Amino acid sequence: MSCFVAMPGNEAMARALAQATGGSWLRAEVRRFPDRESHVRLSEPVEGLKVVVVCTLDDPDPKTVPLILAAGAARDNGAACVGLVAPYLAYLRQDAVFGTGEPLSARHYGRLLAGVFDSLITVDPHLHRIDRMGDIFPGPVVVVQAAPLLADWVLANVQRPVVIGPDAESRQWVAEVAERAGAPWTLMEKQRLGDETVRLRLPDLSEYRGRTPVLVDDIISTGVTLTQAAMELRRLGFAPPVCLAVHALFAAEAAWSSLRAAASRVVTTDTVPHPSNGVSISRAIAEALRG
Ligand code: R5P
Repeated sequence: MSCFVAMPGNEAMARALAQATGGSWLRAEVRRFPDRESHVRLSEPVEGLKVVVVCTLDDPDPKTVPLILAAGAARDNGAACVGLVAPYLAYLRQDAVFGTGEPLSARHYGRLLAGVFDSLITVDPHLHRIDRMGDIFPGPVVVVQAAPLLADWVLANVQRPVVIGPDAESRQWVAEVAERAGAPWTLMEKQRLGDETVRLRLPDLSEYRGRTPVLVDDIISTGVTLTQAAMELRRLGFAPPVCLAVHALFAAEAAWSSLRAAASRVVTTDTVPHPSNGVSISRAIAEALRG
């Protein structure tokens, strides 16, 4: 039986995991000293318990030091083992040395976590140029997949869908969602010109006229990819699309309002808490925990 330790903002997920697995949960209380160092304290004893720290890692830099200290607190207070549930795992889009003088950040960040956690469970890590999670986190890892849950949502909510990915990297989610929902699928081509600029090329969509477009991607960060994809579909005379994504980062305040204006609905999983969350991932994580 596990004891889930909720980092700030992760209480709902920790509580859901405790309920689904018959475990307990407690809070990691985090405050800042005047000199901006973090002070972490576990709200209850953990001696002899299998501790699982729950921390989704959007906006990762300010969360990482308290997370490491929470793992240390569990170990220093007698936990039998210390695992991590990170529904969103950060730094995976920096999965290559893109330019001279840069680090392979995904690997360095994964190794940092592996230095303090015995195991890792995450949801749909953004793996493209690195094939195996083991290259990032050298320890036991379970990857939970959101596509079956997104497909169930499409089956329950969309009539005559066509599932469309905004780029080649979305293929794995698009193909699986479409297959499970019994819908056709296709991909756009994307060229990223800058952090907030993309160029999209659309395939021939004439055979899908009359269907409801469902855009599927793994991450919404600036929101530019899905907003532009939705606007292109509307320009071609399609109905405003439904937009589905796994991880709702919404890095800029404007991202949410722009995407909402371009789409008929925006629905994400709750790997990152956000008003767009409409698909709960906690049961799938609980199943992974039960092995
Ligand atoms: C890219 O490879 C990802 O799958 C997403 O398409 C991307 O992260 C979306 O970013 P943004 O919302 O900033 O366009």
